[in-house]
Amino acid sequence: MSDNNNELERYIQSTPKSKALWEDAKNYMPGGDSRNSIFWAPYPIFVDHASGCHVVDSDGVDRLDFIGTMTTLVLGHGPKPVLDAVENQMNQGVVYNAPNAHQIRLAKLLCERIPSFDLVRFTNSGTEATLNTIRAARAVTGKSKIAKVEGGYHGSHDQVSVSVRVNPAKAGERSHPDAMAATEGLGEGMLEQVVVIPFNETSIARETLESHKDDLAAVIIEPMLGSVGMLPATTEFLTMLRE
Ligand SMILES: Cc1ncc(COP(=O)(O)O)c(C=O)c1O
Repeated sequence: MSDNNNELERYIQSTPKSKALWEDAKNYMPGGDSRNSIFWAPYPIFVDHASGCHVVDSDGVDRLDFIGTMTTLVLGHGPKPVLDAVENQMNQGVVYNAPNAHQIRLAKLLCERIPSFDLVRFTNSGTEATLNTIRAARAVTGKSKIAKVEGGYHGSHDQVSVSVRVNPAKAGERSHPDAMAATEGLGEGMLEQVVVIPFNETSIARETLESHKDDLAAVIIEPMLGSVGMLPATTEFLTMLRE
């Protein structure tokens, strides 16, 4: 406990400018941020600039970045070829409200490289991707419910805002978790639309899925649970889900 307190004290002492920015931000943005999933208490660092695998916060502290925007930044911060390509494109206009040839080139590359990709729909966020995917699954199967893992994060729309960061003391039995609202304001009946299964508990999860199979449109899973500490799924668990 005292180690935790020391760490918190050191954090607060080394980040006065981030704290001041956060106080200011709260006047204009709810909670002082526009992305709840990357907020941590008491306040996050505010980044001033970044390069390669380094991020420098507003207090000038240079940190090694092990997150890489949740692993999406595979080339690091500001790789020159990417910056050059972006600059080149910006000179030709940025938003067209019409399709363009670059989209086809990228979609083709993805389909060629990733065997499970037949077609690609580009979206602006992960939230839109999972929303569209679940909607398509409902349309194709004619069923309404989805199953998700307790602790899995799939964005901020209603159907996936269930059992994300749960309080184990309030979330029912570990083997048969209750569907818990991750936010206030979910639509009525939303929790009944989601079957929650325990992560990496292959036989229990299989049993639960089988008992709901006539109502399930899809099972959604992150192979690595990001928002509860980067926990990898076992091959056995993923294989069972695929079956
Ligand atoms: C596995 C997964 N799905 C969905 C999302 C939601 O993405 P976004 O925040 O872009 O809506 C995230 C974001 O971190 C994610 O890690």
